[in-house]
Amino acid sequence: MKTASTKKELSLLIEELKSTGKSIGFVPTMGALHRGHFQLVSRCVNENDICVVSIFVNPTQFNNAEDLKKYPRDVESDLELLRGAGCQIVFIPNASEIYNDNELKNRFEFDFGGLDKVMEGKFRPGHFNGVVQIVEKLFRYVQPNRAYFGEKDFQQLSIIHRMVKVLNFDIEIVDCPIVRGPNGLALSSRNERLTTEERKKAVEISKVLFESRNFVPDMNPENLKCRVIEEINKIDVLEVEYFDIVNTETLQTVENWESPTVGCIAVFCGKVRLIDNIRYNS
Ligand code: PAF
Repeated sequence: MKTASTKKELSLLIEELKSTGKSIGFVPTMGALHRGHFQLVSRCVNENDICVVSIFVNPTQFNNAEDLKKYPRDVESDLELLRGAGCQIVFIPNASEIYNDNELKNRFEFDFGGLDKVMEGKFRPGHFNGVVQIVEKLFRYVQPNRAYFGEKDFQQLSIIHRMVKVLNFDIEIVDCPIVRGPNGLALSSRNERLTTEERKKAVEISKVLFESRNFVPDMNPENLKCRVIEEINKIDVLEVEYFDIVNTETLQTVENWESPTVGCIAVFCGKVRLIDNIRYNS
């Protein structure tokens, strides 16, 4: 496995691969890798000649300085996991390699077609501007044929699909299912920050989401939404920030079950903010 920490080093590796016609798969990450990332990387390894992974805790997508500071980092164990998964190239730049001062100070603008106005976008203003800013740069550096993203970040995935279309990237975006722990908790780098007690309580999030499926189609989306919020808020240490039942394409709130829908949730478990989602009729 080769590592590159500069764009120059990466581009030398990429140019050589491109000149020999190799297909490139790409998994962008912010490190603190877990079994969910392992699945993305393994799939990428299986479906492409070369798998490239980036590890970069992107400062421009954090709207909270404390969250950025506390984001878990463990490069040594990340590299071990990537070697085990068969990744061939890892790109680990630092922030000054990616951004100039101007880019760090000013918000990157992009036409999201409204996809950024709801859910995560509403509660983390500017978050998706930072995501699109970094993913667009990484796509230009890595020039992948395919890029792999997890469905846990459902809204992020919708926005990446839009970005590829709007910016005309010839890249296939591969949507990968949520990976869950044995008790149903969606795997996330942020789970590392949960205490043992909080981890036990966090399991209830997916439990309530899965149970909520039993009420479709008898209960309407608004009543189901209230029920889910109420059930989760009953559990001490859990506090729902939002739960929305939306159309899978437009991400707009639905009033009935006629279109494919997904319920997206953000919950504080103590001080740790967790997200998850569930498909209802798709
Ligand atoms: O999903 C993530 O880990 C990040 O948002 C991404 C796509 C790597 C961009 O920093």
